[in-house]
Amino acid sequence: MNIKKVVVIGSGTMGSGIAAQVANAGISVNLLDLNKEISTNACNRIKKSKPPLLMKESLSSLIIPGTIEEDIDTIKDADWIVEAVVERIDIKKSIYSKIDQRRKSGAIVSSNTSSIPLKILSENMSEEMKKVFCITHFFNPVRYMRLLELVITKMNDYKSIEQLKIFCDEKLGKTVVICNDSPGFLGNRVGVYAMQVAMTEALNLGLRVEEADAVFGRPMGIPKTGVFGLYDLIGIDLMADVLKSFIKELPTEDPFHQVGKELPIINKLIKDGYTGRKGKGGFFRINKKHDQKILESLNYETYSYSKSKKVNLSLPDQMNINNLLNRNDIYSEYAWNIIKKTILYAGALVPTVAENFSDIDDAMRCGFNWQKGPFEILHEIGISNFIKKLDKSDFVPPFLKSLKENEASLFSIKENKLYYYNFSRGLLPIKRPEGIISLSDKKKTTKPLYSNNSISLWEFSEQSHFICAEFHTKANALDQKSAEGLLRAYELCQNNFDGIIIANDGMQFSAGVNLNIFLNMAINKCWKEIDLFLSQFQLACNQLRYADFPVIAAPSGLAIGGGYEVVSQSDYVVAHSNSVLGLVESLVGLIPAGGGCKEMLRRWYNDPQSKKDPNFASLKVFNILGYALTMDSPSKSKDYKFLGKEDFMVMSRDRLIAEADKKIKSVMDNYTPPKEISLNLPGSTVMPMMLEILENLFETNKIKQHGLTVGKKLGFMLSGGNTDISQKLSEKQLLNLEREVFLELIKMPLSQERIKHTLDTGKPLFN
Ligand code: NAI
Repeated sequence: MNIKKVVVIGSGTMGSGIAAQVANAGISVNLLDLNKEISTNACNRIKKSKPPLLMKESLSSLIIPGTIEEDIDTIKDADWIVEAVVERIDIKKSIYSKIDQRRKSGAIVSSNTSSIPLKILSENMSEEMKKVFCITHFFNPVRYMRLLELVITKMNDYKSIEQLKIFCDEKLGKTVVICNDSPGFLGNRVGVYAMQVAMTEALNLGLRVEEADAVFGRPMGIPKTGVFGLYDLIGIDLMADVLKSFIKELPTEDPFHQVGKELPIINKLIKDGYTGRKGKGGFFRINKKHDQKILESLNYETYSYSKSKKVNLSLPDQMNINNLLNRNDIYSEYAWNIIKKTILYAGALVPTVAENFSDIDDAMRCGFNWQKGPFEILHEIGISNFIKKLDKSDFVPPFLKSLKENEASLFSIKENKLYYYNFSRGLLPIKRPEGIISLSDKKKTTKPLYSNNSISLWEFSEQSHFICAEFHTKANALDQKSAEGLLRAYELCQNNFDGIIIANDGMQFSAGVNLNIFLNMAINKCWKEIDLFLSQFQLACNQLRYADFPVIAAPSGLAIGGGYEVVSQSDYVVAHSNSVLGLVESLVGLIPAGGGCKEMLRRWYNDPQSKKDPNFASLKVFNILGYALTMDSPSKSKDYKFLGKEDFMVMSRDRLIAEADKKIKSVMDNYTPPKEISLNLPGSTVMPMMLEILENLFETNKIKQHGLTVGKKLGFMLSGGNTDISQKLSEKQLLNLEREVFLELIKMPLSQERIKHTLDTGKPLFN
């Protein structure tokens, strides 16, 4: 059965999120609640949500608000009915009985419950409905969180569940992990446990909240909110409820009880109204003093706030667990205590709660945004090293014992194939659903063709024989080594491969060129070096664009600044539905100089409007780049020509590389590279119009003195420089002009001030 119509019951946080994601897939959805006001308000909230739940506002027309009382018959022709009402068994059950009476045969029904067991929810259902009833546990915000836990039992009709699984994977873009009906399923069971360990251990060791978050954060491959920041983000009161539910559901011997107990500090914060970011703060708060917002942190011993102090652990950007554990200080002790307990806890869930340990890793990566799951971390430490480091009193679960006794490895490679260790069945090959090519699997099985600190090149033989170029610095910021790697990919691909796919499995495709490099070079007045770097970056992008093989960029997350320049100069783009594209250089007082200006001019130059108005392309790009616009979905990106007609979107992040591979396969035999461009640009005749825009902004205080200067320089570049409409500007001339203007700007102390401010605060400076 194809899922073409969906009904969501309950239009709160989760119901709206699920409805919006169904609409993003282009499918009509009825969103029902107690009364029309609630569901209509939900639709309005969806439209205004930040970050946006919809990929385009117009998709909201696919969501039809209604009431359970009056519109319940919409269920009759629905293929999938999702219940997302309040976490109350009685209310949920009364809704199921309404569904049971009306749903068509074969229609799938699911609950979004986070804590009520499936067997309890399905108690009074007809036998027929039990077969198609399951739990679809989405994470908030639904559009952005990859994980979907699909909880099933032996009662289920496997074919129907498989249909739902495929739908949620391909159409809703989720990484679907099948779970048993056990408390907290997989993600929350391990994730909340790890958070509780991180919290209690920090209190035991007396670490400041910033110190704890600095360790249980990026160095451990965990989002920078760490534990205290995450508590604030989720809501301290909500976390307390979650813990109560675990304590109630889990048997007393479960180690969760040791870390899930009520803590006096948490009770006090809740009592005083410090429930986290949604309230007046929690472990962190923003204090407004003399018109300034100051981030303060809580000293949980004295129960007082003071200005938050950054902690520098002096660790390399890339996650390296062994480096962290070998420090021999209080931070390594803290990290080890968390890692040890989390691995032992997760290990004890195999095979009863999760048959395959890799499901727990997937759940932690996709549900909690960990870079590596607990078992991938264990693999890095090594099972023998891990066990050697344990205390005598630590209980080693049978799964980990059997790994040790059989001298088995969690992952192993036989004939270039990746195998994993299954507790009951020994070594089994890793099977991914059809249409998924996993870079992380590849990284476990082979060595790269080439690698440096910033980029690695991997060989794949799938539908086509391609090189995958993977950026892997912090936020995948680009530097000289990234450009070197792209040039190397070009050399390797010639005559030996069918094409190149630029993709990675980081949170961001690339947040742009590493600004630290530019700033250091500028402070030391290394202008030649800056020019050389830009030339090399331009050359790398240019060679890939005009190579006689296809190059495909597969962005996910941020692809901005230099990251977008790589994307835009690829031959095709397969963009993840949540990718954010744009050129933001003007925010730091610079202009794009890796081909970004040239590329945007080319795109708007080819617009039919340009034929009628010679100033059109320059003015259009001036506005887009001047305002540093970024687009947060591929369909919006197409409107601004950040994506071209042939570029396409993929809902599932897991499927990006496979889709790019298919694209190479479909074009490689008759592939002809694009022709170099030459543009007739208006030169000085368009400048007065640009100046008028800038002066207006200056007079209304939207930009300041340096903003005016940057705008003028950007305008000069986009007008084509010293040219007029009768002259053709070659690609090379445009690229030279980009570098020339960039250098003029970066030499200015006020641009350097902007760069420094952005690096220090993460925010732009308007000077
Ligand atoms: P919510 O409080 O935002 O929304 C609940 C909705 O249920 C409201 O719109 C409310 O009007 C409606 N409702 C209340 N009484 C009702 C009744 N008698 N009949 C019909 N509808 C009624 O809750 P939220 O956060 O959206 O949670 C919904 C479900 O999703 C719960 O089962 C929760 O455990 C689960 N969940 C929540 C997550 C989260 O992060 N908020 C994450 C994953 C699961």
